[in-house]
Amino acid sequence: MNELILSNGVRMPQEGFGVFQIPDHAEAKRVVRDALACGYRMVDTAAAYFNERAVGEAIRESGLPRESLFVETKIWVQDYGHERAAQAVDAALARLGLDYIDLLLLHQPIGDWPGAWRALEDAYRAGKVRAIGVANCYPHMLADVCLTATIRPMVNQVEIHPFFQQEASLATMREYGVTPQAWGSLAEGGHGLFTHPTLTDIGRAHGKSAAQVALRWAIQRGIAIIPKSTHRERLAENLDIWDFALSDDEMARLRALDLGHSEIVDHFDPAFVRMLHNYRIHD
Ligand SMILES: NC(=O)c1ccc[n+]([C@@H]2O[C@H](COP(=O)([O-])OP(=O)(O)OC[C@H]3O[C@@H](n4cnc5c(N)ncnc54)[C@H](OP(=O)(O)O)[C@@H]3O)[C@@H](O)[C@H]2O)c1
Repeated sequence: MNELILSNGVRMPQEGFGVFQIPDHAEAKRVVRDALACGYRMVDTAAAYFNERAVGEAIRESGLPRESLFVETKIWVQDYGHERAAQAVDAALARLGLDYIDLLLLHQPIGDWPGAWRALEDAYRAGKVRAIGVANCYPHMLADVCLTATIRPMVNQVEIHPFFQQEASLATMREYGVTPQAWGSLAEGGHGLFTHPTLTDIGRAHGKSAAQVALRWAIQRGIAIIPKSTHRERLAENLDIWDFALSDDEMARLRALDLGHSEIVDHFDPAFVRMLHNYRIHD
């Protein structure tokens, strides 16, 4: 497993797994247990996924040394602003049952996220988190936070897959030394990714599936990935991407699949922003 070195020197596995849309406690624990057994060592959760407790329990019960794991979670919009976010950091640590978080992200760049960012900077200085970052930051937003923050985000977690390749976003991340991490690296199954002719054709040449080609494509672009699956055999399949390489020609064929926009989220749509603000995770 390759590691990416963040701007503060922290080493982050290039591949992990996410636990979005697994709110059931027992199911989330089972998925984390299966993923750790497969060999994953990085997990991405969030306050808004309602499964931080399950992640923490599964980690403790695994018996794996804490330092061999990379645990990331996110603060939700409802807890933005300096004071509230500071409380949310401690609440996340308590739910996870951990002494520290490896990477803490702001889930969405809306509301008082500059205030929340100051709370993340405080948590970082206090040693509660080893790295801090943002998610869903468009290039102009990332530049803005990098130019105004005391501590720059170390990671920007954004949607990246062959149908939304995010070249401009990646260029801005490179400019400011921010490590890219992809969510939706399987396009959440959109565009028929798992049976897409280009992906399956390239996969056939390597004895790999379309999913594995999509994940390998991200790895070769220097992007960290956190694909999600509730199925143990798919978790194993998604991790089995380290023994082959896509050629320049294959990378070029995949490059041609870019639509240049997301079909999952639209932060420029007022209704989407309203939905995010209205999504309450606690009283
Ligand atoms: N920061 C953000 O705003 C944000 C947004 C979305 C996601 N995320 C994070 O990124 C992670 C990954 O993104 P995602 O969950 O949205 O989407 P994803 O990883 O692109 O796709 C997950 C979907 O693909 C299916 N799948 C996975 N591996 C497969 C395989 N080998 N063959 C066939 N189907 C497969 C899964 O089904 P099964 O589960 O049924 O196997 C699930 O429906 C999340 O879990 C979360 O941690 C962050």
